[in-house]
Amino acid sequence: MIRDGTVFDEDHLPREIVGRNQHMNEVTDALAPIEDGFRAENCFLFGPSGAGKTTVARAAVRELRQEVLDVPHAYVNCWQDYTRNAVLEVLARDLVGAAVPRSSSTSDLADRIGRNFDGPGVVILDEVDQLRETDLLYDLHEFRGLSWIGIANDEIDLLADLDQRVRSRISVGYRVRFDAYGDDTIADILERRARAGLGSGVVSDDVFERIARLTDGDARKGINVLRVAARKATQEGLAGVPVRLVDEAVPAAEREMARKTYSKLNSHQRVIYEVLRDDGPLIQRELYERYQERHDEPVSIRYLRDAHLSKLEHYDLVTTESRSGKKLYDLAVDHPEHHPEPR
Ligand SMILES: Nc1ncnc2c1ncn2[C@@H]1O[C@H](COP(=O)(O)OP(=O)(O)O)[C@@H](O)[C@H]1O
Ligand SMILES: [Mg+2]
Repeated sequence: MIRDGTVFDEDHLPREIVGRNQHMNEVTDALAPIEDGFRAENCFLFGPSGAGKTTVARAAVRELRQEVLDVPHAYVNCWQDYTRNAVLEVLARDLVGAAVPRSSSTSDLADRIGRNFDGPGVVILDEVDQLRETDLLYDLHEFRGLSWIGIANDEIDLLADLDQRVRSRISVGYRVRFDAYGDDTIADILERRARAGLGSGVVSDDVFERIARLTDGDARKGINVLRVAARKATQEGLAGVPVRLVDEAVPAAEREMARKTYSKLNSHQRVIYEVLRDDGPLIQRELYERYQERHDEPVSIRYLRDAHLSKLEHYDLVTTESRSGKKLYDLAVDHPEHHPEPR
């Protein structure tokens, strides 16, 4: 039944972006100056997981590339590359095609990019709330003609830590809010994805509607549930996907997504996860104390909450509940296969 499994991959960029015309317009407007040879406006896209932020940013850059063939562009996921040095390394490679010697210094990298970058161009800074050294935004500003599309879950002030003089020179021209999708849009996205990956008419509308109802406007989750349901149907030797498989597919898809998220965690997030696995549920102060004991270079409680705990919540690894007026943190899914092998 599965004709093209790649359309269910996380990095698959669909030909059509469903129900986000307004958002697409804002980002393409921001990028429009590039077509005339000028620096674009910086944009900041924010909203919950699975609301199409990364997809819209990538699709806008794809549209731009249809107009300006060789426009320099790069994609950085700041969850993986969270230091100034790491981001500049990606940019040296992808923006100016430099073969960078291993462990080049930050200033070497910046020099190299500054000398060779032939703007205007654009870089997507995905998960930019994980960027630990926001000075990087100043480096980017120094590259003539370079603009960025920053993406995060919450509407944060990215420039907050920059000093006033620098801050006043960098502007964010567009702030674009993404709300979770409505059920109809999720069903529409799933229908197109099913057609591309499984063929037309293999899956009926009540399956898309059922998935939409169970996934709270999160397209990533919806697509994963569809993929798991199609796989289960194939294993059972069925020609279509019956609705009953959807309900079974939800927890399995959640576990797979949780496992993928777990593999992306940095050391702070991993320690939080392990503390909650061993001792949860915990209130924030207890969680912080145990994290501090286990981590060699602990961050402040405020940073832990804003940058790490909130990330784990947005990606459904950690949940909170109120019990007798106290907010308790715990692991969201019980998935023993996450637990690292005992050594
Ligand atoms: N408007 C859309 N049209 C088609 N597919 C979409 C749309 N929005 C999201 N998707 C799909 O849903 C998944 C999650 O979207 P993504 O852009 O990664 O969400 P976010 O970055 O907001 O977490 C991706 O696989 C993407 O292809
Ligand atoms: Mg994203």
